[in-house]
Amino acid sequence: MKQEQFDFHQIPAPLLSWYAQNKRQLPWRENPTPYRVWVSEIMLQQTRVEAVKEYYARFMNALPTVADLAACEEEKLLKLWEGLGYYSRARNLQKAAKQILSTYGGAFPSDYETLKGLPGIGSYTAGAIASIAYGKPIAAVDGNVFRVASRLEENESVISDPKYRRYLEEKLSAVYPESGKECSAFTQSLFELGALLCKPQNPECEKCPLKKICLANIHGTQSRFPVLPEKKAKRVEEVYVFLIETPSGFCIRRREAGVLRGMNEFPSAVVVNGETPENILNEWGMYEFTELDRQKFTHIFTHIRWNMTCLHVRVDSAPFDAYSLEEIEESVSLPTAFKQCLSMLTKE
Ligand code: ADE
Repeated sequence: MKQEQFDFHQIPAPLLSWYAQNKRQLPWRENPTPYRVWVSEIMLQQTRVEAVKEYYARFMNALPTVADLAACEEEKLLKLWEGLGYYSRARNLQKAAKQILSTYGGAFPSDYETLKGLPGIGSYTAGAIASIAYGKPIAAVDGNVFRVASRLEENESVISDPKYRRYLEEKLSAVYPESGKECSAFTQSLFELGALLCKPQNPECEKCPLKKICLANIHGTQSRFPVLPEKKAKRVEEVYVFLIETPSGFCIRRREAGVLRGMNEFPSAVVVNGETPENILNEWGMYEFTELDRQKFTHIFTHIRWNMTCLHVRVDSAPFDAYSLEEIEESVSLPTAFKQCLSMLTKE
């Protein structure tokens, strides 16, 4: 097998010196406490570094310690997370914070297996916290690392295969440096190489510190790695969303089911049997309404695509809570799918 030809021990020395010269200054790299590393890694799982910076600063400012996170009101937490998506990650973050307080007396666990036992923390996040914050020789394999490593040894395993993940975690962990600081740097150097040079498209191999040992570079096969799982077609849903304007503001309710369950929304309905907007409003007990505007939007979730038709309607009364636009902007958490509909109200 090809993988047998590649020696992982060749990676750390050139990569660490490249990292020392080329690393970006990122907020979570300053004062990398377990809490700060944890929050950054959860945010970075779903969003680009540039976009995370602002969310991270805001979050750390509002909730500087694990105790603050544990005590935070859910609505405030979701507002801090608004726009990052995957809200279950924010909820798990808080569940884990509560567990750290109740089970571990507020002391952040340092043991890898204990970390993995916390809600929302898998082998990747546990490895990142253990190596970056605690200086342990434990790998953290994310998409960047899969890309770098699969190219280095031309590994044809599909990256969604748990066996490949475990294989890579073991191979990399076995070549970690001895000192704590270097362990932290090694984990981050793999992320950094994936982000700056070993990019999905147009990798900059001529600048790469590993170009001489990288089998994909030597053979010109970079574009074949990593091997990604087959993409499943997304389910398409037609959705009506209502900006229901009442004398006291715009209606918001909590989603009871489906995608984004438990999150706030402008009242919406998936079209199942050809319902019209009028049918839906009638169903909700609103028979008199004036349609002011109608626009189309789309939103892509992991497994679903929403083709949204958003209607701005005016009513005298509605069976939902209503909020002013200022309140919605400042203190109501609203997923991006719905937030985009607000553009209908601000454009002239
Ligand atoms: N991607 C995932 N984790 C990261 C980190 N700590 N720094 C930069 N990019 C990352």
